[in-house]
Amino acid sequence: MDHLLKHFRSTKKGNNEEELGRIAAQGQKQFTWETLVSATKSFNPTHKLGEGGFGPVYKGKLDDGREIAVKKLSQSSGQGKKEFMNEAKVLARVQHRNVVNLFGYCVHGEEKLLVYEYVANESLDKHLFKSGSRDALDWKQRYNIITGIARGLHYLHCGSHEVITHRDIKASNILLDDKWIPKIADFGMARLFPEDQTYVNTRVAGTNGYMAPEYVMHGRLSSKADVYSFGVLVLELISGQKNSSFNPSFDDQNLLEWAYRLYKNGKSLEVMDPTLASLAIPDQVAMCVQIGLLCTQADPQYRPNMDLVVVMLSKKTGTLEEPMRPGYPGSRYRRSRNPTKSSFSAVTNSGQSDSHTYGFTSDTNSHNDSATATTTTTTSTL
Ligand SMILES: Nc1ncnc2c1ncn2[C@@H]1O[C@H](COP(=O)(O)OP(=O)(O)OP(=O)(O)O)[C@@H](O)[C@H]1O
Ligand SMILES: [Mg+2]
Repeated sequence: MDHLLKHFRSTKKGNNEEELGRIAAQGQKQFTWETLVSATKSFNPTHKLGEGGFGPVYKGKLDDGREIAVKKLSQSSGQGKKEFMNEAKVLARVQHRNVVNLFGYCVHGEEKLLVYEYVANESLDKHLFKSGSRDALDWKQRYNIITGIARGLHYLHCGSHEVITHRDIKASNILLDDKWIPKIADFGMARLFPEDQTYVNTRVAGTNGYMAPEYVMHGRLSSKADVYSFGVLVLELISGQKNSSFNPSFDDQNLLEWAYRLYKNGKSLEVMDPTLASLAIPDQVAMCVQIGLLCTQADPQYRPNMDLVVVMLSKKTGTLEEPMRPGYPGSRYRRSRNPTKSSFSAVTNSGQSDSHTYGFTSDTNSHNDSATATTTTTTSTL
């Protein structure tokens, strides 16, 4: 740990020592480079689980028999260093059955690695979007995944005196264990802020199709941005369709608009992946469609908090609010003239004098579908 402390002392200002003290107290440890080389058979390509924006992830096995996933942060990326520290800080504070467990770290010269528990069924996107494997998840499993993610997010938002905003909730960042219990992963972009602070203005970073409009357009980050991403994910889980690659039709530009149109026509069940039909519980499907739409409202104030989402999901019956048209980056918004009321509301007709169409920079990274737009300056509370 001393070596790690030294590294962080030299790379980052602030009270990192205190943070790392906390990390050490959680029993997370520093792994030697040799241990990880041996566990992953020298980072053998056959052990590679995937590659995200910050480097490849390898499967490994420790001498004590524990299976691990090792994320090797790409050396060239300055952003990777920030991610590394951020993930270490955030994951040291959290422990929940719906959040991935970080076993430890390794710093070896320029190499930085994060060591997680290996989660047996890997990431949700592999089950949801890959053709041929879509029917692997039945409705009951999907519903349990929805409630598990909701509980995990609720814990992050409300579990301590600090609000943890994940900022990159999406299918590839949800891991599924051997019992299909979902675990929220990838805290490299997460932000901590005091619970009395409702939002921060920050540089926009996230993934196309999951980012809330006020976040993309104004860099305004709050826990409601995670609620939005959760809503998109719920609709993806129900439909088996990926929002960022939704096949646009004449009427519907994206998954949200499509789901909303079906909902308004009383056809919520048509949102569901047809392969689920035989085992699905129609009332649950309809409720989840409505929750997905409520979570993706244009105005963050009209989105429920995660505690309300958890309550809604646990209710067998009950009336949910009526969602309005969902919002998304690039859709039209009208700023409210009354600042005490909502700041945005979706409008459907064009040509309003006080409406703006906000462009969305879809500068897709080469490795995956992450998008980074630098529209505002960073004001991090970390
Ligand atoms: N703890 C883990 N257990 C099992 N598989 C994992 C684990 N962590 C990551 N993976 C696998 O490694 C893949 C790559 O993960 P990574 O988070 O680096 O990239 P990503 O989520 O695809 O993209 P992004 O960089 O945008 O988050 C994941 O899709 C997942 O399948
Ligand atoms: Mg990821």
